[in-house]
Amino acid sequence: MSYAAFTQSPSPSGATNKAGVDTVAILDCGAQYTKVIDRRVRECSVATVIVPVDTPASKLKELGIGGIIISGGPNSVYDADSPQCDPAIFSLGVPVLGICYGMQLMAQTLGGTVSQGSVQEYGETDITVDPQNDLFNGLAATQTVLMSHGDKVTQLPHGFEQVATSPDKAGDIVAAMANTSRQFYGVQFHPEVELTEHGQAMLDGFLKRICQFKGNFKLTNRLENLLDEIRTTVGTRNVFVLVSGGVDSSVTAALLLNALGPERVFAVHIDSGLMRHNESDLVCDALKALGLNHLSRLNAADDFFNGTTILEDGTKIGPLCKTTDPEHKRRIIGDVFYHLITRAIAESNCDVNSAFIAQGTLRPDLIESGNRDVSDTAHTIKTHHNDVPLIQAHREKGLIIEPNRDLHKDEVREMGRLLGLPEALVARQPFPGPGLGIRLLCATQPALTDAEQTEINQQCQHVVAPHGGTAMVLPIRSVGVQGDGRSYRCPVVINGISDTTVMRQLSASIPNTIHTLNRVTWWLGDQGPSATPTFTPTLLTPETTEKLRAVDNAVTQAIVNTGKLQHISQLLTVLLPVSMSDDADRTHSVVIRGVVTSDFMTARSIKLGEKDNELPLPWLHDLANTLHQQFSWLGGVVLDTTGKPPATVEWE
Ligand code: XMP
Repeated sequence: MSYAAFTQSPSPSGATNKAGVDTVAILDCGAQYTKVIDRRVRECSVATVIVPVDTPASKLKELGIGGIIISGGPNSVYDADSPQCDPAIFSLGVPVLGICYGMQLMAQTLGGTVSQGSVQEYGETDITVDPQNDLFNGLAATQTVLMSHGDKVTQLPHGFEQVATSPDKAGDIVAAMANTSRQFYGVQFHPEVELTEHGQAMLDGFLKRICQFKGNFKLTNRLENLLDEIRTTVGTRNVFVLVSGGVDSSVTAALLLNALGPERVFAVHIDSGLMRHNESDLVCDALKALGLNHLSRLNAADDFFNGTTILEDGTKIGPLCKTTDPEHKRRIIGDVFYHLITRAIAESNCDVNSAFIAQGTLRPDLIESGNRDVSDTAHTIKTHHNDVPLIQAHREKGLIIEPNRDLHKDEVREMGRLLGLPEALVARQPFPGPGLGIRLLCATQPALTDAEQTEINQQCQHVVAPHGGTAMVLPIRSVGVQGDGRSYRCPVVINGISDTTVMRQLSASIPNTIHTLNRVTWWLGDQGPSATPTFTPTLLTPETTEKLRAVDNAVTQAIVNTGKLQHISQLLTVLLPVSMSDDADRTHSVVIRGVVTSDFMTARSIKLGEKDNELPLPWLHDLANTLHQQFSWLGGVVLDTTGKPPATVEWE
């Protein structure tokens, strides 16, 4: 059975697509956010089917859908190969909502005009909406929304009116348009993401007021479907499940235990040497409590640090401890995981060619690694360790089980609660499979020339000087996500500004205006940074990993002691191959990043302040002072306050 077959035919959305259950079709144009739209629609208890944007109208009619949402996407409608829809979908007699690229596609298809925007809008924006319109009914006239686009609609199609406006120096932008009599709506912003404050209410308005759906699609029914699906797929065979200790793999293990009983579920925890302080011990203790009869732990640090692999074009990459390219690091780590699990299967006297491997893969993981089963057009943001080609080949054989592959993080947590998992496990912060391996930025040479650095510094200085600050761009790159595509740009460190409102504004505005940057960080500690950063060649070795592990533990413990960890969805520490100290022994800096999100597709930085759910800035400065005293190699501590987008949660 193919991967698509396992997940699509009995999938919750597909299975409920029958008479009596309201279903909306999501036409996928390749947006990173397509599955977030899917998630948000399900939160309104409406079933969904995700189909390619060019699905014929006749096929949509057969599916019995009662509404259509056209997603955003990374293209411009003017690109030669831009995704197009069947114009006949606008004659099906069902309401249509176009989001971002989807709105532009709707405008172009129905005779309006789309132009290349002079300003690219990426980030939170205040717009004015018409509260009389069904989409915005009951909402205030000013709304904070996430914009992430370059093109814009400049002439509305016949029969449409403008129902929301985004201010722009070069002339206002159409933020939403509507043809109420035909029930066609377009929004330039993303109502599906958390950064759009009332986006859920807008989607609910489309589904309940405009499509007139009743909302009868619930998670409990999907749990039963999942258990049946596991039993049918696995039959009488064994399943090996990779358990990292995070909520995703724990819920996967619990689903398997519920569906198959403890004798046929073999859990394997791999300590890659890239785990946090004491993590594998804690994880194994927690997993035993799940009722697993077969749990083994592999201590495999050497396999990872010395791991190599061969790419599709025959190039050998590795060993990991000498690899700097983030995608190569992920590939090696993913492939070593695969080899270790197949070795564990063989050592348990099971047949690698017939035993199933289960993984906790979530929908966003597959979207971000550009998996073709999820989206025909999504850009690869990053390869996930559980979607490397070796796993894909195993999937082709029908031997990979991913019960969470249709779920988002918050749904997995809800599923965990339905299964009775302890709250400590269900509420655990995510930790990426490649672990500290993707939190240690490796490079053998600086990413900027001195001239480039000077030029970007001047641009930043121009922005921060009026606020009394100084700026320093770092000669390294980190990954970001801008306008549905990947960006690989530099971070800036700002010193001397302590007004948290200004800090928040600059965090949002700098990456939008200085296009060589995608992250804004703030210097922490009493002693200021050196005049220029010093680059330190850095590789992923046991020694550098130990540095990161130790400082990460110190930061985590300090935040745990304040009682604030529960207000942070994910806390991370990143080691950078640069120093901002004049002391030559202080070779590396660290970044502290705390984000708040429930779906991890978009995220805000934790707010700075004195409230319970905020981190006090003076406390962070004290923490940096303590860290400087504790670690003689530490050449700088910065706080990353950039949202996702334009940055990502992790730095690689
Ligand atoms: P980003 O950095 O993409 O992170 O904004 C979103 C969520 O995904 C986690 N993440 C990963 N998880 N393998 C994983 O298992 C990976 O390669 C990976 N990269 C990011 C990240 O920690 C966050 O929770």
